[in-house]
Amino acid sequence: MAITLTVNGTSHSLDVEPDMPLLWALRETLGLTGTKFGCGIAACGACTVHLDGRAVRSCTLPSSAADGKRVTTIEGLAENGTLHRVQQAWVAHQVPQCGYCQSGLIMAVAGFLAQTPQPSDDEIDAAVTNICRCGTFVRVRQAIRELSKAEGAAV
Ligand code: FES
Ligand code: FES
Repeated sequence: MAITLTVNGTSHSLDVEPDMPLLWALRETLGLTGTKFGCGIAACGACTVHLDGRAVRSCTLPSSAADGKRVTTIEGLAENGTLHRVQQAWVAHQVPQCGYCQSGLIMAVAGFLAQTPQPSDDEIDAAVTNICRCGTFVRVRQAIRELSKAEGAAV
């Protein structure tokens, strides 16, 4: 089946099985390996990308569900050479350890804060459920808090 995706601003026509997970279309067909495979059952969040601006777990999303839509991966999050503000906060708070889960975490947090700029702790707990084996959760929380504070100051 041919599907058309706009990935990081570029349109692609891909000849893939409709039930191929979007993750594999991105990694294997387009070579965008920044998005990681962790569990394959939508549990860990390592494979998170944005579909029309919303964070989704691409390991269980059929490619056909993304037909005609806009996909952003970690490779496309920075714009014009400037890191996204979530990436900047990650650097400032030295969040990553081994790094494996971090592209998914950054995409999850960027998608979440776009919808919920000043979240409560409960909202963060409910929305950012990515698993990090290195235990970076405290720094993740600090970075989210700083970002939501900056958002409050800008309002
Ligand atoms: S690899 Fe997709 S949620 Fe774990
Ligand atoms: S930084 Fe190592 S798994 Fe998250």
